[in-house]
Amino acid sequence: MSQDAEIILEGKSYKFPIVVGSEGEKAIDIGKLRDVTGYITLDTGYKNTGATKSAITFLDGEQGVLRYRGYPIEELAEKASFLEVSYLLIYGELPTEAQLDAFRKRITRHTNLHEDIKKIFDGFPSTAHPMGVLSSVVSALTAFYPGAINPNSSDDEEDLTVVRLMAKLPTIAAWSYRNSKGQPLMYPKNKYGYVENFLYMMFATPNEDYELDPIVVSALNKLLILHADHEQNCSTSTVRIVGSAKASLYSSVAAGINALWGPLHGGANQEVIEMLDEIQASGISTKEYIEKVKNKTVRLMGFGHRVYKNFDPRAKIIKKACDDILNNLGVKDPVLEIAKELEQAALSDPYFVERKLYPNVDFYSGIIYRALGLQTDLFTVMFALGRLPGWIGQWKELRDANEPIGRPRQVYTGYNNRPYVDIQQRG
Ligand code: CMC
Repeated sequence: MSQDAEIILEGKSYKFPIVVGSEGEKAIDIGKLRDVTGYITLDTGYKNTGATKSAITFLDGEQGVLRYRGYPIEELAEKASFLEVSYLLIYGELPTEAQLDAFRKRITRHTNLHEDIKKIFDGFPSTAHPMGVLSSVVSALTAFYPGAINPNSSDDEEDLTVVRLMAKLPTIAAWSYRNSKGQPLMYPKNKYGYVENFLYMMFATPNEDYELDPIVVSALNKLLILHADHEQNCSTSTVRIVGSAKASLYSSVAAGINALWGPLHGGANQEVIEMLDEIQASGISTKEYIEKVKNKTVRLMGFGHRVYKNFDPRAKIIKKACDDILNNLGVKDPVLEIAKELEQAALSDPYFVERKLYPNVDFYSGIIYRALGLQTDLFTVMFALGRLPGWIGQWKELRDANEPIGRPRQVYTGYNNRPYVDIQQRG
């Protein structure tokens, strides 16, 4: 293959290097385009734009392949723990037993929150959406650990921030929930693992012993792994662009949480369950609902993906897990049948087939979260807990590569130069 791409502009030919990734993905490096031609590219929604080179996650949307650092998602979801996968995403390799143990111990030492953070929780109305609380409190961590603001901090200091954030996010999530319910806050328990501790802080009470359900632990472990990274999606790109300005890890991840909250991104998991509940409550048939989707009155939430034009491999795993987990827990949720009917109807309908719309990660995950006892507005928080190691890994990669500040250009379409008009003369 030629090493260059040729672009002809106004009759003049320019050559730009071709970059090929380790899985054969091809890109034209247009880094010098504006300098040499005066042109920029226009790609609204970044459908064709590679913003970075990354060695973290490989995704083939046509084949439905997803790998973290080369390891297939199916194997990781089946065999690994969430902390192992977090280590893999953040540090690049699967940990040895000793490395994992040290990582776990370091995280366990930092799970407490500064007592003054309780006052921040108290300032929120009990109706506050937990995603807003989560991002605010993560942002506020810069006030408690100002060392993280220094862009020239040592590797050890930076790693301490990584560990603190991994350790504290589950506590923040659980406490925001407990506080909104007026329930006593449960302090983390060091004897528990990462997932177990989160469940304990969410559901234990000071008055009673708490028994962990291994089915719930294993289900949550799997879901967190499946959400742990997804290359340059909206929230991850947000984390990277904020990080590229040398903002702290806390600030960058707080921005990522806000991006994730959007209903077209992670917020879709809440939207899916609300859609399914609405279909059930209204008594409308799935066929009628599909017609509404095709008329574009509503979107089928949990369907479609910018990159997957085939089955989202995460959705395949989650669908199977959904059946198993609900059976094992003895939970019957009528919306599971509605979801399956919708999926079936959509997969055989030309509207969805032609547009290559398949169920995505959010289509079945909410049904599992509900079976695990989580309320609807916490679903996206669960996504954020899972995505955290991915955001951290991507932020670190950007910093280690010393990438320049992210600053897209635009094609200006507004007024040309015009003189200021005094207020009395406007009308
Ligand atoms: N229901 C109905 N029609 C859809 C849907 C859907 N869920 N998704 C896409 N379409 C149609 C869309 O109307 C358009 O049709 P047309 O060509 O007639 O204008 C066509 O498919 C292409 O859609 P698009 O919006 O241009 O595609 P996109 O790549 O910009 O959007 C998406 C991707 C995920 C935002 C979109 O599929 C969507 O809104 N899905 C529902 C929300 C959702 O489930 N989001 C979670 C994504 S997975 C978790 C994550 O990583 O964030």
